Amino acid sequence: MSNAGSYEERLKDFDWSIAENELGYHKGDLINIGWYCSDRICLKGKADKMALYYEGYDGIEKKYTFNDIRLAGNTIGTFLRNLGLQNEDRICLFMDRIPELYLSFLGILKIGAIVQPLFSAFGDESLFVRLEDAQTRAIITQRKHLPKVRKIIDKLPFLEFVIIVDNDQKKTLEKKELPFDLESASPVENFEIFPSVAETPSLLHYTSGTTGQPKGVQHVHYSIVSQYLTTKWILDLQDDDIYWCTADPGWVTGTSYGIIGPWSMGITQCVLDAGFSAQTWYKFIEKYKISMWYSAPTAIRSLMKAGEDIVKDFNLTSLRHLASVGEPLNSEAVIWSEKVFGKPFHDTFWQTETGSIMISNFPGMKIKPGSMGKPFPGITGAVLEPKTFTPIPDNGKIGLIAFKPGWPAMMRGYWKKEEKYREKFVNGWYLTGDRATIDKEGYFWFIGRDDDVINTGGHLVSPFEVESALLEHPAVAESAVVAKPDEIMMEVVKAFITLKPGFESHPDLELEIMNFIRKKLSSMAMPQEIEYMDKLPKTRSGKIMRRVLHAKEWGEEIGDISTLEDD
Ligand code: PRX
Repeated sequence: MSNAGSYEERLKDFDWSIAENELGYHKGDLINIGWYCSDRICLKGKADKMALYYEGYDGIEKKYTFNDIRLAGNTIGTFLRNLGLQNEDRICLFMDRIPELYLSFLGILKIGAIVQPLFSAFGDESLFVRLEDAQTRAIITQRKHLPKVRKIIDKLPFLEFVIIVDNDQKKTLEKKELPFDLESASPVENFEIFPSVAETPSLLHYTSGTTGQPKGVQHVHYSIVSQYLTTKWILDLQDDDIYWCTADPGWVTGTSYGIIGPWSMGITQCVLDAGFSAQTWYKFIEKYKISMWYSAPTAIRSLMKAGEDIVKDFNLTSLRHLASVGEPLNSEAVIWSEKVFGKPFHDTFWQTETGSIMISNFPGMKIKPGSMGKPFPGITGAVLEPKTFTPIPDNGKIGLIAFKPGWPAMMRGYWKKEEKYREKFVNGWYLTGDRATIDKEGYFWFIGRDDDVINTGGHLVSPFEVESALLEHPAVAESAVVAKPDEIMMEVVKAFITLKPGFESHPDLELEIMNFIRKKLSSMAMPQEIEYMDKLPKTRSGKIMRRVLHAKEWGEEIGDISTLEDD
């Protein structure tokens, strides 16, 4: 029997106070995610229960009980506080998925500071724009990522502390750098947690849009109310589950459902910090007897590609419930997983901005493969007619996915971008920027994004960011970046460029430009293909028409090109 009971039952009389009561929270109380995810679980008698099993690249294994993570949060919090760091300071986590990443997350929240998680795969430019925007005061990182930080530190006057969790004592440190070794620090038993309330800022997650630099999505401690209940009902976590969320906490799935959701419920979770291979993943599931698995379509498609035979080499009978997020989950993937694991992947839809799952295939609900399911109880979702912004009846017509604001995990703003935040609301609806249809039974079917943002393997890449970085290469005169279809990643980045006089198109130059972007931004943002053009399609006013290039890549009708510049 699932935690949730039937979807229809849950729709009746739904109220977020269900979650508040279970969390023992009353309006006006103090509420701190760090405390809820560790101290409270210990107070409930689960101090010795395992909170985290970690396995690294090099085969290193570590494990932490709820009491261990409580102490680690206190110890890191004390270290940060002793540096003078305090509430509302932005502290960036820039690490691979090592235990310190998860434990520092708790420590930062316990002192009331704001966690700014960034992918360790980011290059120096991606890191710089996000640290500069947030005026980040401290960054917690690993030795291996230090060169990227050193490259930009002089341009970041607000960045006062570079904390290295795995410092090699033989290596010299530069200004602002200081070591912190959790294992040799004396554990702090008693810690005064910052008295945060519902609206105290908690996280700043950066997300990419079509235009301009990435935006910092601001969340608050009250988000835990949504994250707790959606974890319980949709991911259906139960006390003896062993849970594996494959997402990196640089991405919102890795914080909402890779830290807050499971730990607020006192659930044991596993983290694998190793590259992808079907073998490694299946072995991990078998070894830790994973029962609930939250993953993403690109990974599932890669597993499908690895074939069914390899599945038979492992005992995966521990798997009880599977869910997916981040990109369209094609019906073949749902059918395949049912065949090979005996369980379908349940698609879930949400965003950095929504903070928690909005649409899902609720446990027990009839799954229509290829559909995202229905809105979570308490969430009013619709597709809106794109001109009038009014709901389209459930008749299969395409519209804009929108939600009535007001759920606990909803973002509270874009960092220092009030105007951009306001633009997300029309007629009392929050606009997601995605398009879908709703069928007669109320199921949502994803159609696509309503902007030019590229979703590559679940990572949102801004064409604007890649185009700007391309222009910094000495050979590039103009650039336009669009998505190109890909069998596994769904979309990959493709760049069209014109060259400056004196440069010639050449495969070596193509490789050089690709690497230039990989180092500056990230491997996700690196164009998988570069096409040289004599001229890019532009409107008469000089704006590059990405739409024309996109249509070409996808073999679609180009549509209205009346504004296209004449030859
Ligand atoms: O376009 C939608 C796509 O991912 C976007 C949100 O990305 P991000 O803010 O990085 O958060 C991802 C994880 C919560 C959405 O606007 N997306 C997310 N889930 C799905 C999806 N597209 C299709 N199907 C989904 N289930």
